[in-house]
Amino acid sequence: MNRSPFIEGTMVHTSANIYGDTFIPVSTKVGAFVEITGGVTIGKRCKISSHSFLCSGVILEDEVFIGHGVMFCNDMYPKACEDGVMIDFSEDKVIPTLIKKGASIGSGCVILPGVVIGEGAMVGAGSTVVKNLADGETYYNILK
Ligand SMILES: CC(C)(COP(=O)(O)OP(=O)(O)OC[C@H]1O[C@@H](n2cnc3c(N)ncnc32)[C@H](O)[C@@H]1OP(=O)(O)O)[C@@H](O)C(=O)NCCC(=O)NCCS
Repeated sequence: MNRSPFIEGTMVHTSANIYGDTFIPVSTKVGAFVEITGGVTIGKRCKISSHSFLCSGVILEDEVFIGHGVMFCNDMYPKACEDGVMIDFSEDKVIPTLIKKGASIGSGCVILPGVVIGEGAMVGAGSTVVKNLADGETYYNILK
């Protein structure tokens, strides 16, 4: 882990990619091979573990924990082409996703666009989240 030369008091691994207008505030930690696009809002004292992907429209309030390899999505019906023409990425289609203060998302989760994960809520490792999770609730899914 190396201290970023650009953002005071923040820990960003040198192999993380952070684009555009996204700002990493004081005390937040970003692990190796994390990809964060522009248009992401990140709170203070968050911990974002390696190999996770945060796309535009994602909002993390303060003290959120993101496990390893967590994938966010912001387009419910993604397509490469329309009538044989490549579609440019458009901010218009972005659906915001809100992770409230102190929530934790376990490793390997997929978070569908538009959900709200409540304050202090816990999403178990390997879960797919398609609906809102209330404050303080725990949720996990798997075939057993
Ligand atoms: C969700 C979680 C917090 C639940 O912990 P817990 O309350 O101690 O739950 P338990 O271990 O008592 O498990 C209760 C039941 O849920 C199941 N379960 C727990 N977590 C699960 C998960 N992520 N997916 C599916 N089932 C899960 C257990 O197998 C157990 O099932 P059973 O009652 O049939 O035996 C925890 O299992 C988890 O996923 N933590 C996140 C780990 C992680 O990703 N860390 C980040 C990087 S290190």
